[in-house]
Amino acid sequence: MTRPTPRESITLMTGYHSPQIDVDVRLNTNESPEPPPGGFAEAVAEQVLAIDWNRYPDRSATKLRARIGANYGLPGEQVFVANGSNEVLQTLLLTFAGPGRTSAVFEPTYALHSHLSRVTGTTLVEGERANDFSIDLAEVERVMIEHRPDVLFLCSPNNPTGIVDAPDTIRAVLDMVRATGGLLCVDEAYGQFSDFSAVDLLGDDTPLVVSRTYSKTWAMAAVRLGYLLAPDWIVTELEKVVLPYHLDAMTQVAGTVALDHQDAMTARVARLVEERGRLMARLADLPLDVWPSGANFILIRPTCRDGNAVWQGLVDRSVLVRNCATWPRLDGCLRITIGTPEEDDRLLDALTEVLT
Ligand SMILES: Cc1ncc(COP(=O)(O)O)c(C=O)c1O
Repeated sequence: MTRPTPRESITLMTGYHSPQIDVDVRLNTNESPEPPPGGFAEAVAEQVLAIDWNRYPDRSATKLRARIGANYGLPGEQVFVANGSNEVLQTLLLTFAGPGRTSAVFEPTYALHSHLSRVTGTTLVEGERANDFSIDLAEVERVMIEHRPDVLFLCSPNNPTGIVDAPDTIRAVLDMVRATGGLLCVDEAYGQFSDFSAVDLLGDDTPLVVSRTYSKTWAMAAVRLGYLLAPDWIVTELEKVVLPYHLDAMTQVAGTVALDHQDAMTARVARLVEERGRLMARLADLPLDVWPSGANFILIRPTCRDGNAVWQGLVDRSVLVRNCATWPRLDGCLRITIGTPEEDDRLLDALTEVLT
């Protein structure tokens, strides 16, 4: 038999994987180190028992969208929900990009923006960030003039660098996108860890969407729930593309119940930001380049040893961080998720041993 082959762009893909190795301290996927607050799982369980299991879930996820929107002073019609923000971004590309259309990213950035562009048959344009990994407006202008992308991605705070785009930068990019009839997507998966959000720039006549996730700040990576805030006419288009009943009843319940625990979430984020400061200060004493971070992770580059060897040395000490060697321009870099103080102390001890 001649085996059927996937599209050429798929054949060439390597996929997106962060190795899950069995270790004591896992600081490689930017999850919350703490579980959701006490009472959350019990409240979810109670509501799960009341689900009409023989019926499809609420296709519009009305309650969940209304509750998420209320957090931002927006109506539910301006909220699109899906199975993780990756599905949100994929739906966005299927709707506003795809074959014959173009998306733009600025490397190094979150790998799924380009991966999902390829998966959806979108022509991908890869611009470069400045030397300090901030957004270079001259480079954005070049990309806009040469390629007029239909969808342009920013990621703020940026994964894996941790850098937060300045409000003026986002406004300037938005002006350029508006001028060419494109759409700006600001991925704020780590938005709650930083001081500025592009949500403040949303408007009915503004070609801007902001995506967020329950995976990081809400300590709910297991659930798979992400959302996008946008003008309602954009959400209407996304709803046409996503599969019917894509968000199951349990996810809708978990996402709604989580919003009853807003204070605990805010307190956990504050603890992680404080811990980030402590870890940053300790890392400054080691032979490393360390980038500033507005997220729940820190990017480092060992200056005295090869990054791969340091990564392996940490694994040998049962500490897993993200090896960024395959990212453009990040050879030798490692990304460390902020853990509990105990986990971070294990990391610091291991890193000190490996580096000295
Ligand atoms: C920048 C960014 N966006 C989106 C995601 C995907 O999040 P989710 O778990 O909601 O699919 C991640 C996950 O690591 C991320 O780093």
